[in-house]
Amino acid sequence: MQRLSAKNKAVGKTIGLVPTMGYLHAGHLSLVKKSKEKADITVVSIFVNPTQFAPNEDLLKYPRDIVHDKKLLKKAGVDYVFIPSVEEIYPKGFQTFVEVDKITRHFEGEFRPIHFKGVTTIVSILFNIVRPDYAFFGQKDAQQAAIIKRMVKDLKMDLEIIVCPIIREQDGLAKSSRNIYLSVQERKDALVLSRSLKTAQRLIKEDTKSATAIINKMKEEISSVSTSKLDYIKIVDKEKFEEAGSLSVGKKYYILIACKFGKTRLIDNILIKT
Ligand code: PAJ
Repeated sequence: MQRLSAKNKAVGKTIGLVPTMGYLHAGHLSLVKKSKEKADITVVSIFVNPTQFAPNEDLLKYPRDIVHDKKLLKKAGVDYVFIPSVEEIYPKGFQTFVEVDKITRHFEGEFRPIHFKGVTTIVSILFNIVRPDYAFFGQKDAQQAAIIKRMVKDLKMDLEIIVCPIIREQDGLAKSSRNIYLSVQERKDALVLSRSLKTAQRLIKEDTKSATAIINKMKEEISSVSTSKLDYIKIVDKEKFEEAGSLSVGKKYYILIACKFGKTRLIDNILIKT
């Protein structure tokens, strides 16, 4: 991969990288499409990164289907699919990690304390191997994208991070590789996430400014669904990713939700422009 990237860069071609953990869906493919529009060469990496899973999480049962993934990527016109092994990425003796500080402590970081350290480490390794000019991430994982942007800025990495909108199922559920874990009932119940985000959007349009008022209304809606177990709802400033108490006019915010349905933990969010 390093040789292929160097070869393409030597003839002046730009490289777009779409890092994934595979089991690809339309959300991933929307990033591929953006990369194909922006860069001369598109590389998609597939690597289920063990360092971003805690021991109690779903590393071993994380869904995988490389044959199907490769078919989808071929059809999408991707130039290279990079599928390294765990031993290649983390050989014996590996001991170097990349960690972003404050912005990783809250929200997802509170519930998944080692997660982002694993993400920033693997993403740095992938950047070093592929040397992309652009890397594409989904707003679906809004905190992840904000952390990677922070890392690129702080470490003076020479590439542009592009964040792409959330792709949803027709009924509103945000596409996720983890949706297959949901039972039929949980799949129905999980629609309350996108519904409650819509409720929040309406309240904000009607001029509600208090974060607590918005969050309480959403909590009420989510708790009416019996299989739901809410981890958090937070309203954060889009750029700094800091919690907002009240919304100011002309600013952008994310409303973030993390919620379990049975054993499956889902995240969703909406970008609000006031
Ligand atoms: P993964 O969950 O496979 O997601 C790969 C990329 O696809 C991420 O940038 C994610 O935000 C984006 N994505 C997922 N669902 C989406 C949707 N419904 N709409 C738009 N984009 C979506 O995120 C990871 O993998 C890993 O943490 C990774 C960055 C690859 C590091 O291991």
